[in-house]
Amino acid sequence: MEGKMIDENGLRIDGRKVDELRPIKIEAGVLKRADGSAYVEWGKNKVLAAVYGPRECHPRHLQDPSKALVQCKYNMIAFSVSDRKRPGPDRRSVEISKIISEALEYVVFTEYFPRTSVDVYIEILQANAGTRCAGLTAASVALADAGIPMKDMIPSVAVGKIDDQVVLDLCKEEDNYGQADLPIAVVPRTGDILLMQMDGHMTLDEFNKAMEYGFGACEKIYQLQKDALKRRYAVEDVEGLEEEAPREQQDMEG
Ligand code: CDP
Repeated sequence: MEGKMIDENGLRIDGRKVDELRPIKIEAGVLKRADGSAYVEWGKNKVLAAVYGPRECHPRHLQDPSKALVQCKYNMIAFSVSDRKRPGPDRRSVEISKIISEALEYVVFTEYFPRTSVDVYIEILQANAGTRCAGLTAASVALADAGIPMKDMIPSVAVGKIDDQVVLDLCKEEDNYGQADLPIAVVPRTGDILLMQMDGHMTLDEFNKAMEYGFGACEKIYQLQKDALKRRYAVEDVEGLEEEAPREQQDMEG
């Protein structure tokens, strides 16, 4: 990589410190016809997650008589990236869908819903690195919003290495030109790691530092996930009332 990505004051190209997250906003319950949904803005990433089910699994030969399947489809829309992406699944999206499905399946009490499928759609509307983490973070809020019994939500974040330094939450430039990228996802309640991938190289000391940053950030993201759900249910009461009574009637009622 030519040029430095961390300046003499220890700040990164977007002004963040090495252990600083990008700004994250999470909103739960954004889609009326989904059983559960969430919208996440994470730096310049914009991600929508929708959950449908548990519903009868089709095709039927996929049904498991002992548990539900959790089937995630991660999709990047064509203009979410600077070079238009060819629509439809590719190797990358199939891989990401698989690892997210496996992580979610671990936390959902699938044995409560035999023969069904819990379908999770993740749409990347705008991408700027870390979309699998933002997608998984959104999907677990959407699952909770759908009222699906689960052990915990899953916060997720990428850690990496640039200019020989460990950094938290890589943005696009850092992801492209950095030395390592290490997305993780954890179960906060138990500390279990549900996703870990690694692109590039790190020493053991760097890896340990990366885990320290990653786990710390996951605690913060977990708090944002819980806050989003709390806000969702505070708002829903008001919306529910409005929906029941037509406008004139509401006016009459004052
Ligand atoms: O998004 P994430 O970091 O989980 O996955 P990645 O494969 O490491 O991709 C990093 C970033 O590269 C994405 O977030 C996009 O911003 C960008 N990308 C792209 O520009 N075109 C693609 N076809 C795929 C990814």
